[in-house]
Amino acid sequence: MLMIVAVLRTVREVSNQRFMESRKSWDSNQITREYFDSLLVEMRHIDAVIPSTKFELYGETFDTPVMMAALSHLNNIRENGMVEMARGARAANAVNWAGMCDEAELEAITAAGTRTISIIKPYADNDYILQRIEHAERCGVLALGMDVDHAFGADGKYDVVLGEKMKPKSLSELREFIKSTKLPFIIKGVLSEQDAYKALEAGAKGIVVSHHHGIMNYAVPPLFILPGIAKVINRQIPVFVDCGIMSGMDVFKALSLGADAVSVGRAVMEPLKMNGSEGVRDQIIKITEELAGVMARTCSRDLKNIDPAVIWHRNGW
Ligand SMILES: Cc1cc2nc3c(=O)[nH]c(=O)nc-3n(C[C@H](O)[C@H](O)[C@H](O)COP(=O)(O)O)c2cc1C
Repeated sequence: MLMIVAVLRTVREVSNQRFMESRKSWDSNQITREYFDSLLVEMRHIDAVIPSTKFELYGETFDTPVMMAALSHLNNIRENGMVEMARGARAANAVNWAGMCDEAELEAITAAGTRTISIIKPYADNDYILQRIEHAERCGVLALGMDVDHAFGADGKYDVVLGEKMKPKSLSELREFIKSTKLPFIIKGVLSEQDAYKALEAGAKGIVVSHHHGIMNYAVPPLFILPGIAKVINRQIPVFVDCGIMSGMDVFKALSLGADAVSVGRAVMEPLKMNGSEGVRDQIIKITEELAGVMARTCSRDLKNIDPAVIWHRNGW
């Protein structure tokens, strides 16, 4: 009898543990997915037209507001991965972002002819940051910026990425970087209205609302906080969003809630791994077509005419 009770207890404990693991209630990526799925969209058919997904950024026109996220270390999944991604973005006439890379890699990415936004890490050494800004300018990037959310590790100490020391940046340091360049400077990793105000104060020419694919547990989903941040920004500079975007429907929800464009990271990594630049191009086109499908059924004729009132919130959020 005792034996049976012990076995039943073990089975229950194991299944409880499995349940907790599968829920991962702390995981910001899962919370973000749940929030996306809690948003519902009403339909508007009368007076609808074929929608345009043309996207204007810093004086240039692209076919889609779906941009490649600032990724790095893509050689781990595909030889010359960063350049292949850039080629795919170019073939889809989309904006490409480049994350942490050395100067030679950024030169190869921009040589692919893709309009690229270079995101420079918050290196502890500000002189090195200024050098990288100058180098990115020489490469002819469309814009540049910094992922300010990558300064700390989870232990409260300064982060070290591939042996490089990071350090958080103050408002005056950000102002110095921004003043050093004629190119638009974007602050990536804004997840509070407070940082949105500071980004404006620093003179940023764009922000990315993001939790850096779950850099901290229980991070608020970017789309949840987006309307508040968009209100602070008040159309003075573009607002971009990333984290967890998998489909055109996700893009539509982000645009409805105040984003000008979105970045897609992990959803292009598998196509990149399997089919290189063609996989990337096809994935951007697929997501853009899905976006157009939702725009058509919500009477949204272009990106500037998406009514936030089409979004409905399920109870509980
Ligand atoms: C493999 C990988 C590398 C990344 N490297 C960088 C980086 O160097 N700089 C940066 O700002 N963000 C980096 N990111 C974060 C992405 O730019 C983006 O914020 C994040 O992946 C969220 O989008 P997603 O859910 O569509 O992947 C990286 C993400 C991945 C998956």
